[in-house]
Amino acid sequence: MSKSRRKHLWQSLNLIDLSQTLHKEGFGFLYAMQILDGKQASNYYQEQLKAESLEFEAKTGKKPHLAAILVGNSGPSETYVAAKMETCRKVGFQSSLIRFEPTITEQQLLLEIDKLNQDSDLHGFIVQLPLPAHIDVNKVIERVDPSKDVDGFHPVNLGKMAKGLPAFASATPWGIIKLMEYYNIETEGKHVVILGRSQIVGLPMSLLLSRNSKPGNATVTVCHSKSQNLADISRQADILVAALGIPEFVKKEMVKDGAIVIDVGLSRIPDETRKSGYRLVGDVAYDEVAPKCSAITPVPGGVGPMTITALMQNTLLAARQQMGLT
Ligand SMILES: NC(=O)c1ccc[n+]([C@@H]2O[C@H](COP(=O)([O-])OP(=O)(O)OC[C@H]3O[C@@H](n4cnc5c(N)ncnc54)[C@H](OP(=O)(O)O)[C@@H]3O)[C@@H](O)[C@H]2O)c1
Repeated sequence: MSKSRRKHLWQSLNLIDLSQTLHKEGFGFLYAMQILDGKQASNYYQEQLKAESLEFEAKTGKKPHLAAILVGNSGPSETYVAAKMETCRKVGFQSSLIRFEPTITEQQLLLEIDKLNQDSDLHGFIVQLPLPAHIDVNKVIERVDPSKDVDGFHPVNLGKMAKGLPAFASATPWGIIKLMEYYNIETEGKHVVILGRSQIVGLPMSLLLSRNSKPGNATVTVCHSKSQNLADISRQADILVAALGIPEFVKKEMVKDGAIVIDVGLSRIPDETRKSGYRLVGDVAYDEVAPKCSAITPVPGGVGPMTITALMQNTLLAARQQMGLT
């Protein structure tokens, strides 16, 4: 372990331990709040990826190669794909961006996916979501070869993950797991409440945290739009994961003192004071919730960078598997 990693972890531990001690001693109103910095953790993991990518290239004569399919040109999707391509460059991967007009038919898109499945120069690829309404997203996800499904959305990967078998874990939940590992957050025996049950975030997150491993072994409650008395449930959470897609939905009354809060949400809301005319917010009302927490992810700069890092980790794994290095 590097000196900077040791130093950083030590500081993290101190802050989280201190907040727990203060709580036990009855100073529930005082917390040494830790910001779970996804950029910092990503930098740490990406340094490792860079070294591993060089090693892969030395053994195979190829770089790990990730492609992204982008249908249409919506602002947020452009931004997310550009960040993924830029991270490929940073960690020494080859990347390809494949664009299609928003008018592409479902059948045409499925045939393009078949081509990528068969392209032996390509180790993994993603289809950036959302897709235009005339395309069935499930058909698209199921067409991707599971061995190249580095977003971890295919039912085969989800099913294997549920059984605890080796699989590409969904990038966002896996990124959260790696963030928790980086900050040495204990999940065993903790009550985790997840707000949202989507197939790409809430559901796989619940599988990963309830499995018999580390991080894992948590008691997990999953809430959704039909859940009743949501605030009563979320207030029981030692670790609260918000993944609803509703800007600033989680207010301070919904969070227990000293909880760890992971904010997955990412929405643009109008802001006339910004040049862009908008600002990014999460599903948590950060300003009022953060002072109550022992640790919290910021938006932006929390879960987002970790999702991209997890995607890179999956791509390297796919590349190794396809070249017989695992
Ligand atoms: N930072 C990143 O890397 C990253 C990655 C992925 C997603 N995201 C963001 O995370 C958020 C969630 O994404 P997603 O794809 O999981 O969204 P999604 O597919 O729309 O799912 C939202 C979930 O929230 C639940 N929900 C909606 N309203 C609710 C309410 N009032 N009370 C309780 N539950 C409610 C829904 O319940 P039902 O199932 O009953 O409809 C659903 O399960 C979005 O802001 C997205 O942009 C960020």
